[in-house]
Amino acid sequence: MITDIIAAKDAALADIEAAASLEDIVALTTRYAGKKGELAALKKQLGSLDSIEQKKAAGAAVNDAMSAVDVALDARRAVLSAAALAEQVENERLDLTEFMGAPTRGHAHLATQAWERLEDVFVGLGFRVAEGPEVETDWHNFEALNMPIGHPARGEWDTLFVDHVPPGGEPGSTVLRTHTSPVQIRTMLAEEPPIYIVAPGRVFRRDTPDATHMPVFHQIEGLVIDRNITMADLAGTIDAFTKAYFGPGFNSRLRPSYFPFTEPSAEFDIQRPDGSWIELGGSGMVHPNVLRAGGLDPEEWSGFAFGFGIDRMAIMRHGVADIREMFADDIRFLEQF
Ligand code: PHE
Repeated sequence: MITDIIAAKDAALADIEAAASLEDIVALTTRYAGKKGELAALKKQLGSLDSIEQKKAAGAAVNDAMSAVDVALDARRAVLSAAALAEQVENERLDLTEFMGAPTRGHAHLATQAWERLEDVFVGLGFRVAEGPEVETDWHNFEALNMPIGHPARGEWDTLFVDHVPPGGEPGSTVLRTHTSPVQIRTMLAEEPPIYIVAPGRVFRRDTPDATHMPVFHQIEGLVIDRNITMADLAGTIDAFTKAYFGPGFNSRLRPSYFPFTEPSAEFDIQRPDGSWIELGGSGMVHPNVLRAGGLDPEEWSGFAFGFGIDRMAIMRHGVADIREMFADDIRFLEQF
């Protein structure tokens, strides 16, 4: 019996040593180490031995053989897996040394370029850059801007609501900001006038993309609060900006309009050197209710605000027909700017 056990063990060890692949190891594990394997079969025969001594000796030999086989399987499996991994790594190796000619240099996206140039121009006119969060409270985005709950003008901003209830707040009172105007409120609450800021940023509306709309886009807001600010200051600032940004051959005009947060309100247009007009954005004198929401006394302070779309302005400037091109990430389009 013991001779059989040793013979089986030696055969097993030789086979394991000769295994060439992990599949071989799987087969050999079933053949020798499994419950139905050859050594297990020998173990079952122990009962037929005559004496206790014989059973003990043969039992020890089987156990010894089984653990020797387990150890050999583990060792061979480790060697073969390391080899398999090395082969896979070698096969999947990427040659990153290939050189395709003169290196090309990337540049800022068209929207970023426009954003940064606008900041430069307004900083040149004496403004500071301010910012606010993209996830806003209903209060900052609407209510403090003279649009209480139920105000019909709220419908003009197709609002995306966020499933977040701030501590002590109402469900449905968190929005993705629909414009940069809430930064007016945040700035008034955070600092003392005089205030001369622009606030570029990302805004969100529940809109289906088309040639002139994107659900995510960029705006720049302007806010001036000081003593004795009038509509003439607004018109002068818009015109100074127009000439600094577009060039001396460009003019601007204000057209009467309506926004809940400005009174009076005006749309402003830019005139190209060829005489044609393009609509750029909204503006007006900050409404007394907005000043009050910002913690300011309308008897003491007055101001103007304006806001317009950065992406829309950039495509007009470059004669791009479809705003979706801006964000399609097609390098052939982006490279041109
Ligand atoms: N927030 C307005 C909009 O999104 C633009 C605007 C800003 C109008 C400031 C007046 C004053 O359409």
